[in-house]
Amino acid sequence: MATIEVLNDGPLKVTGVKQFLNSRGVAIAIEDTAFLCRCGASANKPFCDGSHKKTEFKSECGKPASPAATSQQAGESRIDIRKNGPLGVTGVPDLVCAKAPADAARYSLCRCGLSQNKPFCDGAHKNSAFSDDKN
Ligand code: FES
Repeated sequence: MATIEVLNDGPLKVTGVKQFLNSRGVAIAIEDTAFLCRCGASANKPFCDGSHKKTEFKSECGKPASPAATSQQAGESRIDIRKNGPLGVTGVPDLVCAKAPADAARYSLCRCGLSQNKPFCDGAHKNSAFSDDKN
């Protein structure tokens, strides 16, 4: 089963996601367990390169109040990189974080580091210099 764990002050730990696509719809190779940047500073986007330590990125998420629903996976687990924007997540209801998405079937996770509603995107990337032209 696919899970995404939001690591405190660090990346997203992604496990078992079947499809990972860039903003042009091209598949990106991903290990069964991968660490995706959410601070916006990695030189190896979409993956974490440890830059969050240098930039002293702060974002705590905590653990869910109740164990993640041993949810029925709704379709194929998939992450779509949005052009210079967030990660669009589909079919990964198990988000390990105290905050739950409004819709567990489909949600967007911040990867610019600027959202006031981390780990979710609030659109802050639009008014920032965040860019990831490669993906
Ligand atoms: S979260 Fe690790 S480099 Fe951005």
